[in-house]
Amino acid sequence: MPKYEPILLKNMLQPGYTGSLAEYERAGGYQAIRKVLGKVSPADVTAVVMKSGLRGRGGAGFPTGVKWGFLPKDYQGPRYLCCNADESEPGTFKDRQLIERDPHQLLEGMLLACYAIGAASSYIYIRGEFVLGAKILEQAINEARAAGYVGKNIFGSNTTIDIWVHRGAGAYICGEETALLESLEGKRGLPRVKPPFPATHGLYNKPTVVNNVETLANLPHILNRGAEWFASIGSPPKSTGTRVFCVSGHVARPGNYEVPMGITFRELIYEQAGGMRSDKKLKAFIPGGASAPFLTPDHLDVKLDFESVALAGSMLGSGGVTVMEEGTDMVWAALRLMEFFYHESCGKCSPCREGSSWLVQIMRRIVNKRGQLADLETLTDLCKNIAGRTVCAFGDAEVSPILSTLKHWRHEYVAMIHAAEAANLIRPEPVGA
Ligand code: NAI
Repeated sequence: MPKYEPILLKNMLQPGYTGSLAEYERAGGYQAIRKVLGKVSPADVTAVVMKSGLRGRGGAGFPTGVKWGFLPKDYQGPRYLCCNADESEPGTFKDRQLIERDPHQLLEGMLLACYAIGAASSYIYIRGEFVLGAKILEQAINEARAAGYVGKNIFGSNTTIDIWVHRGAGAYICGEETALLESLEGKRGLPRVKPPFPATHGLYNKPTVVNNVETLANLPHILNRGAEWFASIGSPPKSTGTRVFCVSGHVARPGNYEVPMGITFRELIYEQAGGMRSDKKLKAFIPGGASAPFLTPDHLDVKLDFESVALAGSMLGSGGVTVMEEGTDMVWAALRLMEFFYHESCGKCSPCREGSSWLVQIMRRIVNKRGQLADLETLTDLCKNIAGRTVCAFGDAEVSPILSTLKHWRHEYVAMIHAAEAANLIRPEPVGA
């Protein structure tokens, strides 16, 4: 039995649970939407979500009810809900499990969100690589449509809510909400300048809410059990509820663990995930996906809530906790992540497009034993000229592996450069390189 009561993973932890409509209903599914539809006003549903303290689970942690509240009240035209299922952050694999193992939980959450914001059409933008997830969602939507839960006059009411699945084509940037909207509109997935935010100028320039899978999956539970119940879980008042943390790397039991926010990294890594996979000590961990700066064993007692992780100099982000043991080469680890960002830069903003290429070239030079001490200053300078100078948060994200490894393990960079010097391996760059 898990130490903490699971909420989102509860059904799928039951042996034999397949996630079919019948099983979801047997487990109490589709009760929240029945309770709310036509009986509680959309404004009151929003008020409950606001009071629960639910914050976005995609990475930024923006308060969900507040985001819904930004939609223009007097606008008569169409509004949209987009579920961001483009989960691409390295080390993050919770949305995939929520989609594949309990799809109706997500669909009910979407119906509740659509009802609250007055959207008749909604889209699940799912990353292209999630082939199985897309198939499962299509099947679940068909089941729900056949039962009258999705489509026209849902549950016999006069409310129409439709849900469509849209598959991405494998670009990390399409998880950025405005690039997602561009892609959904059939254009190349490039981020838009914000403001204006999707709340007023979203899909087809209409008021739109973009919410992450895990965020939406929480809604049936909040509406069933109440805002006070949810707000009492976790680390109130600012980090309420549970989170599904994805623990990967050098631990004994990698996987998804749903725990109340506010437990420590030590507990997550050593109790939930079984500790280190060997007798080697922990050397480093990334607390919230590759965009989050690295932390060290000194941070093991930091609490897993938005504020505590920010105070420790990183971010809770997407909930992807990647653990590295003693012996891991931190320069190499930073290069691996940097290569990911270089590959995924969409190319719209010059600091990111050009800068990511330069960062990778310098990092490769150091790892290939052709680095010089001056490279470290160039890396730092480049990072400072990328972060905060791009249209989306990608620029801030891509510099964090380098800046944080330089902060905590600069000696490894220096040792690598000195070793190259000692071995007389420094070679001038070939002409034209
Ligand atoms: P953001 O802070 O710009 O926005 C967060 C949300 O609040 C957005 O939906 C935005 O539209 C809304 N918002 C903020 N201020 C608003 C205002 N004044 N009016 C109306 N709406 C407003 O953050 P962003 O760029 O959406 O997300 C960045 C995060 O995404 C990073 O922290 C990273 O952790 C995460 N991320 C997650 C990935 C994943 O696979 N789950 C992949 C890459 C990044």
